[in-house]
Amino acid sequence: MKLRNETVMVTGCAGFIGSHLTDGLLREGNEVIGVDDLSAGKMEFLKDALSHDDFRFVRLDLLREELADVMDGVDVVFHMAANPDVRQGPKNTRTHFDQNITVTFNVLEAMREKGVKGICFPSTSTVYGEAAVIPTPENYGPLMPISIYGGTKLSCEAMISSYAHTFEMEAILYRFANVVGSRSTHNVLHDFVRKLRQDPTKLEILGADPGTNKSYIHISECISAMLAAARAGARPVEAYNIGSYDRLNVRGIADIVVAEMGLKNVRYDWTGGVRGGVGWVGDVRDMLLGLDKLKSIGWEPKLNSAASMQRAVREILASGH
Ligand SMILES: NC(=O)c1ccc[n+]([C@@H]2O[C@H](COP(=O)([O-])OP(=O)(O)OC[C@H]3O[C@@H](n4cnc5c(N)ncnc54)[C@H](O)[C@@H]3O)[C@@H](O)[C@H]2O)c1
Repeated sequence: MKLRNETVMVTGCAGFIGSHLTDGLLREGNEVIGVDDLSAGKMEFLKDALSHDDFRFVRLDLLREELADVMDGVDVVFHMAANPDVRQGPKNTRTHFDQNITVTFNVLEAMREKGVKGICFPSTSTVYGEAAVIPTPENYGPLMPISIYGGTKLSCEAMISSYAHTFEMEAILYRFANVVGSRSTHNVLHDFVRKLRQDPTKLEILGADPGTNKSYIHISECISAMLAAARAGARPVEAYNIGSYDRLNVRGIADIVVAEMGLKNVRYDWTGGVRGGVGWVGDVRDMLLGLDKLKSIGWEPKLNSAASMQRAVREILASGH
């Protein structure tokens, strides 16, 4: 995939990662057709893109409406639209099935109909489940997700691989660590900032002290790694882990948020969590991704998890959200 002077479709373009990706693709001289139903995304995230002649926004529900009609001339699809909320899994099993599996099938079918040959797909570290090997490499197996979200994303990976082989497509699968930064709307940072704005003396934290231990990557580095991996190409399918080289536990995240908000003597109230201390059912305890494959194509993260988190907190506080 060249991703220069190409026509690229971004589904979920008004979301956190999709809007940053749209900006990045426009900067690199591509024409972008952005698709979103605005169920979670926000038009304000597309402010820069909308001022660009090479951007076109299409409001469309990928579950219920026909995508092929707007796919003419597209070279590559970045299919970012999904229900990304792991916690919703046990409460509403249908949502993940519809929004992840059925919607991905709809996108692949539209691509097949229009002869579109490139797809880039945001999968997740949660496809590894509770991995026995840490850092976990892309060829780790068997893949046994512990959340409905992870299970549906792994199903999407399998469907995309089968379409790529059957219909001569090129597919890049990104297995993201936790991505943080401006325009994010639903993660631990927002939860902490919101609670501390309400009561700066104490912080309720889901789980048992010191909480899960996971790798975090800043959105700027995530977009740069996504473009690098796509440009490295696939014959016909490649999976890439995208994360940083280390981990941060929940106590460490709380300490960063408290410090960045200029607070002192905040009492941490741990809820104790579920299933031996994780925040919610399906929450992975320990996650660090092997980055040798990214390194082999010349890409490495510059920020560690704490620095990514610190930058993200500053951006979120500055945005006023
Ligand atoms: N944020 C992370 O840390 C992370 C980690 C791993 C994987 N991912 C994946 O990356 C992708 C983007 O995640 P995000 O954090 O930016 O989420 P997000 O919720 O901010 O973005 C998803 C976008 O898709 C849109 N959308 C949802 N259903 C749609 C539908 N039926 N039709 C059209 N648009 C629809 C939403 O309105 C939203 O703008 C998702 O596929 C997610 O699973 C994210």
